[in-house]
Amino acid sequence: MNRVELADEAATARLGAMLAPSFLAAGGGVLFLQGDLGAGKTTLARGFLRAAGVTGVMRSPTYTLMEPYQAAGQRLLHLDLYRLVDAGEVEFLGLRDESPDSVIWLVEWPERGHGHLPAADLSVNLLYHEGSRVAECRAHGARMTFDIK
Ligand SMILES: Nc1ncnc2c1ncn2[C@@H]1O[C@H](COP(=O)(O)OP(=O)(O)OP(=O)(O)O)[C@@H](O)[C@H]1O
Ligand SMILES: [Mg+2]
Repeated sequence: MNRVELADEAATARLGAMLAPSFLAAGGGVLFLQGDLGAGKTTLARGFLRAAGVTGVMRSPTYTLMEPYQAAGQRLLHLDLYRLVDAGEVEFLGLRDESPDSVIWLVEWPERGHGHLPAADLSVNLLYHEGSRVAECRAHGARMTFDIK
């Protein structure tokens, strides 16, 4: 586990940007973004997407639940499952062909889709710790390495 202090919004976005290269090198993978409402999950996802080469407007998946992107030949999905009533509703998002072998998944509120999502390669938990915002990053398995400075 790796703990990073996030002094401001830019630091949260920068952490997302730092995680992008290993997912791009792997050509896919699953990043779970956990933490309370307003913890910074979308900010981190946008930092990741920008670093991956996404340009232009990035819509929030708050209502659509899923926003797809294409950048430099890589498909990326940004999901926000907060509004799911039942985890089984994930099956209606049309994700069956979105293999994490070749697609990068950034998932906010993954716990709401529990049992219906691919396993995370990396999870980031955004939280308050002793008065400051921190991110706890955990790699699951060896596919994703991360080098956080
Ligand atoms: N490290 C930080 N320090 C201070 N403010 C931050 C930090 N990171 C993000 N923010 C701000 O916190 C607010 C909420 O961020 P964001 O929308 O990314 O949270 P979220 O976790 O996606 O929330 P939700 O659960 O509602 O989707 C934004 O105004 C963002 O700019
Ligand atoms: Mg969000």
